[in-house]
This record gives sequence, C-alpha cells and structure tokens, in this order.
Amino acid sequence: MAATANKTPVTTNIEWLNRAYSAKGKNDLRSLYDEWAASYDTDLVQPNQDYVAPTLAAATLANHLSPEQPIDKIQVLDAGCGTGLVGAALSKLGAKHISGIDLSPGMLKVAGALHVYTNLDTTDLSKPLVEGTDTFDAVTCIGTLTHAHVGPEVLSEFVRVTKKDGWIVATVLDDIWEDIGYRAEIDKLVANAKVKLVSADSGDYRRGAGVSARMVVLKVIG
Ligand SMILES: C[S@@+](CC[C@H](N)C(=O)[O-])C[C@H]1O[C@@H](n2cnc3c(N)ncnc32)[C@H](O)[C@@H]1O
Repeated sequence: MAATANKTPVTTNIEWLNRAYSAKGKNDLRSLYDEWAASYDTDLVQPNQDYVAPTLAAATLANHLSPEQPIDKIQVLDAGCGTGLVGAALSKLGAKHISGIDLSPGMLKVAGALHVYTNLDTTDLSKPLVEGTDTFDAVTCIGTLTHAHVGPEVLSEFVRVTKKDGWIVATVLDDIWEDIGYRAEIDKLVANAKVKLVSADSGDYRRGAGVSARMVVLKVIG
C-alpha cells in the first residue's frame, strides 16, 4: 500500500500542516510529527483552527453503537491516533478499551501521557496491520486519511480487523474525497458486501479555518 500522493500543492493557514501535506515520504512525515507533537494540541485549539473533528468523531461513534455495544465494553482501535485527541474524547464518553497506533513515536509519547489508551504502538498504516482479524468493535481514523499521509487502501485492513456489526468512523477532507480515491475504495467495499455506507456527510473539521470534511461511517457486514 502506498502513501497518498499530492496532485497539487496544498496550502492551509497553519505552517505545520502545509509541511505535513507536502511531506516527501514517511521518514519526512515521521520527523515532522515528532517535532510538532509538543505544540500540536495547542496549535489546533487556536480559534483560527478550532479542530473539532476528534470530538465530533467520538460523538458520531457513540451515537451509532447498539445496546449490545456499550461504550465502556467495546474495543476501539484509534488508527493514526496522534497525540490522542480522539482517545480523550472517547474516554470522556465512557470508552475504556482504546488501542492507539501511529507512525510517530513523538505523537504517541504525548498520547501516552493522557492515560486513556490501553496500549499504544508505532505502526505504519500503509502496510498490513499486525492486529488480528475481527478484533475491534470500532476503528476510528481521524485526520490521517489525507494529503501525503495514508491512502484509501488501508480501509480494507480496517474492515478486516473490525468485528461484524462493528463500526469504522473516519474523516476525509472534502477536496480529496473523490480525487484521491477514498470514495471509490468505499464503493468497492460496499459492492463486495463488506460494509454498509451509513453516512459520509460533509461537516466542520477545522472549523476556525473554514475547512470541512466527510465524516465517514461504515458498518462492517461481512
Ligand atoms: C493530523 S494528525 C491526526 C492525529 C489525530 N488522529 C488527531 O485527530 O488529532 C495525522 C497523524 O497521522 C499519522 N500518520 C501519518 N502517516 C501515517 C502512517 N503511514 N501510518 C500511521 N500513522 C500515520 C501522523 O503521525 C499523525 O499523528
């Protein structure tokens, strides 16, 4: 599986993201996030960013769980967990079993200090996952299916590690939803009866910067 390639240079109102979206490969991206880790949360909470996607994603997952999937019992894989914003939001809603994986040891170190993850591992999502088949009730992947980060191929791995009737909640920026092939990969999974596409509505992402993204909700059916 290859990391996503940029078609055109992407410019945002935050310099760290400009660098991340034009990274020249995984080593470049890992070093950048290792360096950014210390100020990532503060940078993204600023009013000109207002990065609401992690909180919205946690609420979205909680809203879809069935009575047989109580939030305090489910096993969640937070893929591309970064500094743990999604884990923290899920924990506030009662989740107790959250595994986090990410490319950047620096980001994982910050996530570890939150004490909301049961385990944290360095992982490259562009390679097959070491996690077992049918292991998780839910996979979250927020802010990571994006320019120069992780391509659509990872979605079939998310399906593999998720139990039947489990959930995949992921964000994909509006401007790359079709261009980089996330939409096409999901259509393929739907056609092969692996998932049901529950929703992919466009909504706030970095609200302060006026950036929106699809909040993709997939139910695993096969
Ligand atoms: C924008 S951050 C999002 C982090 C977190 N989910 C959030 O919403 O704050 C993107 C994350 O993707 C991770 N990442 C980038 N490429 C990756 C890869 N190939 N495998 C695993 N993680 C990757 C980065 O290290 C970074 O932590």
